[in-house]
Amino acid sequence: MAEHDRLQTSGSATAPAGSEIIISTTNLHKTYDTGEVQVHALRGIDFQVYSGEMVAVMGPSGSGKTTLLNCLSGIDEPTEGEVLIREQALYKMRDNSRTDFRAQNMGFIFQTFNLLPVLTVVENVELPALVAGVKPGEARKRALHWVEALGLADQTGKRPAEISGGQQQRVAIARSLVNDPAIIWCDEPTGNLDSENQKQVMDVLCGLNRDHGQTFVLVTHSEEVGERAHRIVRMRDGLIAQECGVTSTDDGVELDCDDEPDSVAADADSGR
Ligand SMILES: Nc1ncnc2c1ncn2[C@@H]1O[C@H](COP(=O)(O)OP(=O)(O)O)[C@@H](O)[C@H]1O
Ligand SMILES: [Mg+2]
Repeated sequence: MAEHDRLQTSGSATAPAGSEIIISTTNLHKTYDTGEVQVHALRGIDFQVYSGEMVAVMGPSGSGKTTLLNCLSGIDEPTEGEVLIREQALYKMRDNSRTDFRAQNMGFIFQTFNLLPVLTVVENVELPALVAGVKPGEARKRALHWVEALGLADQTGKRPAEISGGQQQRVAIARSLVNDPAIIWCDEPTGNLDSENQKQVMDVLCGLNRDHGQTFVLVTHSEEVGERAHRIVRMRDGLIAQECGVTSTDDGVELDCDDEPDSVAADADSGR
């Protein structure tokens, strides 16, 4: 069952009542120049996300999902096009300002957790707060709050290697929340987890979205994960090939999609 009520009914997103666009880009391009070949990873992406929305980005390997996330989140500068976050042009900022802006407004969750092995659970969680200039006592207080909220109170002093994969991802979720960001970017957040841990992590993310109103853009290969978002955006060859609104029904979920190219359907069927 999808956690969410319907936010939109068609491929083009409809604003939830009172909601504003928080992420916006038009004609976004990214070309990697490897010296020998040019890879057109993004070939003109138009994409908007409403505040409080959870959007799943799906599509075959190599279709540009990670590149899109990286360009939208200020990790990787696009070749053409601008990204507006809260109406601020990300790539017009100086590097220092963009770093500060990202620390204040964005959290990140990755497939491989990206925890620092020498730090304890609570030290990993408080790190982004310390980097953002929060005083150590306050950073520790915030970190402990989220560690407890994510059911990790007994693991506070352990190192990542001493806890399970599911627990490590919950540490990474706590870390992404410590600066109370408006947007959380997730790249295959359940890609390394078994189905039980996948469900637990998605319960946590959907709960945060519902109760704290964070906006999520979540790359996933899993239809099950995608169907818990408000909207699924399917990429193919550096373009958005299809958008689907997700509606929760008594029997499960219903997808309301714009025209689906056959090739995208084939990819979805093959489980890629
Ligand atoms: N740093 C890079 N240098 C060169 N090519 C890259 C780089 N990162 C990604 N690519 C290429 O860009 C395309 C999109 O990659 P990516 O965004 O990682 O796709 P996905 O996340 O959907 O699997 C692929 O063809 C990939 O090989
Ligand atoms: Mg990827």
